[in-house]
Amino acid sequence: MPLAEPISVPSNAAVPNRYGALCTEIYDLDKPPGSLPDVPFYLDRLAQTDGPILEAACGTGRLLIPLLEAGLEVEGFDHSEDMLAVCRRHCAARGLTPSLRRSRFQDFAYDHDFAAILVPVGTFTLLDDFAEAFAVLKRFFDHLRPGGRLLIDQMPLAYLTNEKPDVRTWTTAEGDVLRIEGRAVEIDLLAQRRVTHDRYERWRDGRLVESELEVMAFRLWGLKEFELALAAAGFEAITVGADHQPGGRPRRSSRILNFEARRPI
Ligand SMILES: C[S@@+](CC[C@H](N)C(=O)[O-])C[C@H]1O[C@@H](n2cnc3c(N)ncnc32)[C@H](O)[C@@H]1O
Repeated sequence: MPLAEPISVPSNAAVPNRYGALCTEIYDLDKPPGSLPDVPFYLDRLAQTDGPILEAACGTGRLLIPLLEAGLEVEGFDHSEDMLAVCRRHCAARGLTPSLRRSRFQDFAYDHDFAAILVPVGTFTLLDDFAEAFAVLKRFFDHLRPGGRLLIDQMPLAYLTNEKPDVRTWTTAEGDVLRIEGRAVEIDLLAQRRVTHDRYERWRDGRLVESELEVMAFRLWGLKEFELALAAAGFEAITVGADHQPGGRPRRSSRILNFEARRPI
């Protein structure tokens, strides 16, 4: 269902889920390394992990950095050069030297396997095509060692129908006002797909000096549907928690579902 007249999208802005420079700057201001309640959850879930961990779509290192600082061996990839550049800068400032690669979910490849693969904060839903997303689950499976674990967080289906615009502002250390105005422009309940237009802006001395449009396309999963997809990709011991609470069970009010699954030994 189209919700509103889409902002007219210039052709060079039509690449979905791009995470360009201004979007990256705001992401990092809003969610610096170590922020969000999933950090203690992942530190706890990964504490006994013996072997390398891969964070797929690691972005600015928000989660990757506290995991490294806890002594875990973590590598990351992301398709956004802007997000990776900030991650590299944060790592260098802390004397951390993880392997970070520019790569996509759809074609990442390593010559070694992992004891765990993570996809936090619902990023997996940015794979907005079912067949493509299922192929990525298989790619995760192939990159895990026997007994290795996949941990993926997903927004519940209710996120599909959230029509509330996202309007927020931040002030940088230099005094610029950064602003996001995001709104859903398409919700397709049949395809479980949602498209938003997120407009990022920089205001200086009352003037708009920079703006960026991010077209974000999400493909949401039903809880049972995702369990079945994990099983079809070969995973076992599939569990689903909620809201990063120890022993948390999914409820109608849950904001994020925490899937965990294992590659058989
Ligand atoms: C919501 S951010 C999450 C970043 C980080 N994992 C965190 O928890 O803060 C989503 C990230 O996914 C990346 N991304 C989106 N689509 C991707 C794709 N197809 N392949 C690799 N990375 C992708 C974006 O560049 C962005 O860094």
